[in-house]
Amino acid sequence: MDATDIAQDLEHVLYTAEQVDGRLKEVAAQIDADYAGREVLLVGVLNGAVMVMADLSRALKSHCTMDWMAVSSYGSGTKSSGVVRILKDLSTDILDKDVLIVEDIVDTGLTLSYLVQNLQSRGPASVEIMTMFRKPEAQTSDVDVKYVGFDIPNEFVVGYGLDYAGRYRNLRDVGTLAAHVYS
Ligand code: IMP
Repeated sequence: MDATDIAQDLEHVLYTAEQVDGRLKEVAAQIDADYAGREVLLVGVLNGAVMVMADLSRALKSHCTMDWMAVSSYGSGTKSSGVVRILKDLSTDILDKDVLIVEDIVDTGLTLSYLVQNLQSRGPASVEIMTMFRKPEAQTSDVDVKYVGFDIPNEFVVGYGLDYAGRYRNLRDVGTLAAHVYS
């Protein structure tokens, strides 16, 4: 769906599907250059990173492999707590592999901080992070995000894989929700 299909639910559109696509291609080119001669293992964090994974992997011009993790971050409403539980682990061994975690959004960085630590303990050659969106708080956390699509304001956003109460992941554009959706 596009923003026009659910105009009454949205307060404003932050990025159109075209803007997301354009930026993603730039980030993919950077990743291609940085990993030249090495095959990267993309680790998507379910469920939000599904769209970024699909688009980033296809924008790469080099070979890559893909795997998935699902984590649940205990928290209430729209904030994560940093207490993370692995719901689905990787299917592959990452020993000596160049791992690139693919995320939809980094807010406090707590989820990623746990994930990076967890993956580092498995003996990979490297672990880096790519996220499509990053909120201000993430910049002061101890998580070093190498590839960022867009730095966004501290607002709750939906679309392009990001949900509110399970909905809006299939919105092509990214935007904020109108107040009536929350009530
Ligand atoms: P963190 O641990 O605070 O960095 O939270 C990261 C996770 O919280 C993301 O993977 C999302 O699932 C969720 N999240 C954080 N901000 C948003 C948002 O604006 N919209 C939708 N989900 C969000």
